[in-house]
Amino acid sequence: MTTTAPAGVLGSLLPPYVHCAEAFGTLDAGRLHPSEAAYIRDRSPRRRQQFTTARTLARRALAELGHPPVPLLPGPGGAPQWPSGAAGSITHTRGYTACAVTSTGRHVSLGIDAEPVRPLPHGVLDLVSCQDERRGLAALPVGEVPWDAVFFSAKEAVYKAVHPLTRRWTALAAITVAVHPDGTFTARHPHHDDVGTGQWGVHRGILMTALALPPTA
Ligand SMILES: CC(C)(COP(=O)(O)OP(=O)(O)OC[C@H]1O[C@@H](n2cnc3c(N)ncnc32)[C@H](O)[C@@H]1OP(=O)(O)O)[C@@H](O)C(=O)NCCC(=O)NCCS
Repeated sequence: MTTTAPAGVLGSLLPPYVHCAEAFGTLDAGRLHPSEAAYIRDRSPRRRQQFTTARTLARRALAELGHPPVPLLPGPGGAPQWPSGAAGSITHTRGYTACAVTSTGRHVSLGIDAEPVRPLPHGVLDLVSCQDERRGLAALPVGEVPWDAVFFSAKEAVYKAVHPLTRRWTALAAITVAVHPDGTFTARHPHHDDVGTGQWGVHRGILMTALALPPTA
């Protein structure tokens, strides 16, 4: 069954003035602009479904900010090209799609990511972390939360928030993240000074991470 939550779980991880739309399942009613349909036409049915659901949610969230329903095509490096004055982020994982948008006067960029609640496949943590980060993860209390998955997801959220500003590819290993059991994470990015603190949470089997970058001074 598909349920949508206009400002549900994801919204609780982001500051006020960020508009979120999320779907557990997929939205059948999604419609694409002709340019979006042309972009995604040759991709797999699963990718088309994800892309369409994400656009439906993004337009819904942008409407709350007063934006008309414009096409949302991926730009260089894959980040969506948001309308002037808006910043946002999209994520999809099996069974969940979400979008968060805000006005650039409030936050210069957003990053959100969703993953299944399960430990990373063998070998991935070593690829995306340094020894200090692995030591930090090992010191976290053992429980139901797979800390390595929170860590990985947080790095993806940071990547998504910063890439639209720098347009530079960055290895996830170069982004520094510390996960905290209180539902936050702190991060540093080699090409953007002001990354700061993000939030993480788990709901209905989906792990979510989110952060909002403040406008530059
Ligand atoms: C960009 C990246 C985070 C997307 O990861 P993913 O697993 O496909 O993540 P999600 O499904 O949650 O999100 C996909 C959405 O991210 C957004 N996105 C893609 N590239 C992006 C970028 N460069 N900047 C910001 N957002 C981006 C898009 O909106 C995309 O959805 P859409 O194509 O429907 O618009 C991923 O490719 C990545 O990690 N790149 C970093 C490079 C790296 O070191 N990777 C190694 C991993 S071991």
